[in-house]
Amino acid sequence: MSDKIIGTDREAARQRLRQAFTDPREFTSSPLYRALSRTVAGEDRLLELAGRGRPGQYPTFLFFAAVHHLLLTGTRHPLAAFYPSLVGEGRQAAPGQEAGAALIAFCAEHEQALTEVISTRLVQTNQVQRAVGLRFGLSSIAAEVAAPVHLIEVGASAGLNLRFDRYGYTVGDRTFGDPASPVQLVTEHHGTGPLPDLDVLPDLASVRGVDLNPIDVRDPDARGWLEALVWPENHDQRALLAAALELTATDPPPIQAGDAIDVLPRLAGALPAGEPRVVFHSATRMHVPAHRLDAFDAAIASLGETGPLWWISVEDAPDPDPRPAPTRHGAALRLRAPDGERRTLAVVEGHLRWLETFTDA
Ligand SMILES: C[S@@+](CC[C@H](N)C(=O)[O-])C[C@H]1O[C@@H](n2cnc3c(N)ncnc32)[C@H](O)[C@@H]1O
Repeated sequence: MSDKIIGTDREAARQRLRQAFTDPREFTSSPLYRALSRTVAGEDRLLELAGRGRPGQYPTFLFFAAVHHLLLTGTRHPLAAFYPSLVGEGRQAAPGQEAGAALIAFCAEHEQALTEVISTRLVQTNQVQRAVGLRFGLSSIAAEVAAPVHLIEVGASAGLNLRFDRYGYTVGDRTFGDPASPVQLVTEHHGTGPLPDLDVLPDLASVRGVDLNPIDVRDPDARGWLEALVWPENHDQRALLAAALELTATDPPPIQAGDAIDVLPRLAGALPAGEPRVVFHSATRMHVPAHRLDAFDAAIASLGETGPLWWISVEDAPDPDPRPAPTRHGAALRLRAPDGERRTLAVVEGHLRWLETFTDA
């Protein structure tokens, strides 16, 4: 390849990175990251640093988690004063719009340590609140499944969603699950459609996860990385994560290491033939490189070759949007039944802070 083409490719990659940081709309609940994204977009050295992650990794999430990780693990720097997570709940952090110069200085001083984190860690945010989506999906199929199901979460991270049956739930004005659990998930309910009874669930024959890099819930370093992935302002999520990690550490679900593309076809052959199985994935497919997406989908579908497969997911926006007059931007909670029928069960906020049900047209 000529130097000119390499140079052009590099420039195109930098432009894509710049775009990701210029328009960081995903940081809905983090004014600090929105402000710092603009700093990164304007600094070639920071963009270059942010681009050192593995293919498919969201550079914005990874870069800010790496900075947060160093600060949380004891690196002392004036930048910490801008982080609500570091100044502590109830105390006022310095205004995020003024943090740019401190970020640039921090990255210059800690480039090597940041590169180490960015190039080796993955975006593995385990958002236990997404268990609401899994539970909604399972209750939606409860009447259809005749036998206990094998539950497989693809991209399970630390496996917090796989312990969905040990949490308490409040969805709108209704409560489900274990009211005494230390993990209480609260979701707003909008819309006109009925909510299924989240206490009516299929029995479980087995529960397992698959992940490129399973997080050991008992390993303090791995837990620290999950904490770094929580945005600095989100004290409630940090507390929920800590409670869910504590609970899950008492009985971690098995999580097989590997790429779902390789693992699932083998698992299809290992599951008892004819027995029902449910696959769940949330915020996972979005991290699969574009040229691997067809293989990822085919690997999941292969589980349906040896038994009836229900496929539940929370990934991207519904298309088309099933709501008559959408006002909230959210992701589709999707279900694909064994006969291939696809349905959007609800539209949900990416972290399941709210869900919206609707009546079919
Ligand atoms: C952002 S986390 C989401 C974790 C969890 N599903 C949740 O909703 O909280 C995405 C997870 O998917 C895993 N992952 C990404 N691509 C994968 C693949 N091809 N096979 C298996 N795991 C994958 C990552 O390692 C990571 O732990």
